[in-house]
Amino acid sequence: MKYNALKGVQDIFPPDIYIWQEVESAANDVFSAYGFQELRAPIIETTDIFTRSIGETTDIVEKEMYTFSDKAGRSITLRPEGTAPVVRCYVEKHLYNLPSPQKFFYSGPMFRYERPQKGRFRQFYQIGVEAFGVSEPKLDAEILSMLRLFLERLGLKGLNFELNSIGCEKCRPDYKKALLEFFSDKLNNLCPDCKRRYNYNPLRILDCKVDTCAETRKGVPVVTDYLCSECKSHFDELLSLLRLLNISYIINPSMVRGLDYYTRTTFEVTSEHLGAQKAVAAGGRYDRLVEEFGGPPTSAIGFAIGMERITALLKAQDRHVIPSLTVFLAAIGHRAETEGLLIAERLREDNIWVELGYGGSLKSQMRRADRISASYVIILGEDEIAAGRVKWKKLSDGSQGEIPVARLSEFFRKT
Ligand code: HAM
Repeated sequence: MKYNALKGVQDIFPPDIYIWQEVESAANDVFSAYGFQELRAPIIETTDIFTRSIGETTDIVEKEMYTFSDKAGRSITLRPEGTAPVVRCYVEKHLYNLPSPQKFFYSGPMFRYERPQKGRFRQFYQIGVEAFGVSEPKLDAEILSMLRLFLERLGLKGLNFELNSIGCEKCRPDYKKALLEFFSDKLNNLCPDCKRRYNYNPLRILDCKVDTCAETRKGVPVVTDYLCSECKSHFDELLSLLRLLNISYIINPSMVRGLDYYTRTTFEVTSEHLGAQKAVAAGGRYDRLVEEFGGPPTSAIGFAIGMERITALLKAQDRHVIPSLTVFLAAIGHRAETEGLLIAERLREDNIWVELGYGGSLKSQMRRADRISASYVIILGEDEIAAGRVKWKKLSDGSQGEIPVARLSEFFRKT
């Protein structure tokens, strides 16, 4: 019997895992410097948490959720994204009673039953951030600046910051009206889903991936022409702050994002090197969602980074992150092997990476040390045990010497 992983999911193992760990550690460092704290929400939630927030007529809710009934007959969904669970936690645990802003980051797997292709998976990982309680555009600018610093910390360049404002509940009805007018004589060119969306949620037509719908959208009114004065001044102030922070951006008025909860600022960071799935990170404001979940009116903004896409970009830049094994301990003879085990244990207590030779001739052990790219070999035989010393050899340049066992830790920590 041969078992394979499911379609659209991935195993992540060495050496790639080291790139993943580097990305996670950069996120931890950068987000912590901006006062974000980690929040771990469950991977499963009741289904309505996602249908209500992401929106009934979005692709995610209509087609892509992993939803099942649990043994008690409740409808459960594997999270397709991380914002809704964080908002659920924020409201359920009354985190709005803590001083504002409350800022969280999270990471972990998300699940969407999409058609797998390059950069698109059914189980994929996001690192996300969510900040609650500040409505000013300064926070939008700070969040975008944090994202830029994170990407720069990883050495990623040539990325585009695409921005839009999709208005609020005050100005959006005007824009919807304009969309209905625009599509009213083009309904026959739209896919069946979009024909339905026309009646329920015309904004979603702008996000449809079907070719004929994309064609029909040409010349569609843009949302930025319909912003109310508050949304417009929010957007203008954000743009001037970004210029102050030296963040280059592109305004993309046709970017509406695939989730319904957004208000005002939306953004995507895209790369030309990723093919069709070009967004490495995306997010925006969602100033109404906390209230919709039963909390007090609370502004919020966040983004999520796609781990697979970030790591693909790093690999394309030839990034190798492979920690080098420090010490290979070659012991000759039964007594030396036992003594070697004790020496290795002491070095590991000092966080030195040690591999044991597990017997065989010195020659075969040296070959193995070479194959696994050890930095040093230490050699331990009967004579060395008697003298309380070991021989060491540095494989990169062949230099060698002897050192008392008691000074080994100090020796390797310095090298
Ligand atoms: P999203 O645009 O659906 O937004 O996803 C964010 C990022 O996750 C994308 O830009 C992409 O890098 C990655 N991603 C999404 N779907 C897949 C997939 N099937 N395979 C691989 N990577 C994928 C959200 O999820 C929002 N929760 C972001 C947010 C946070 N907005 C506010 N706060």
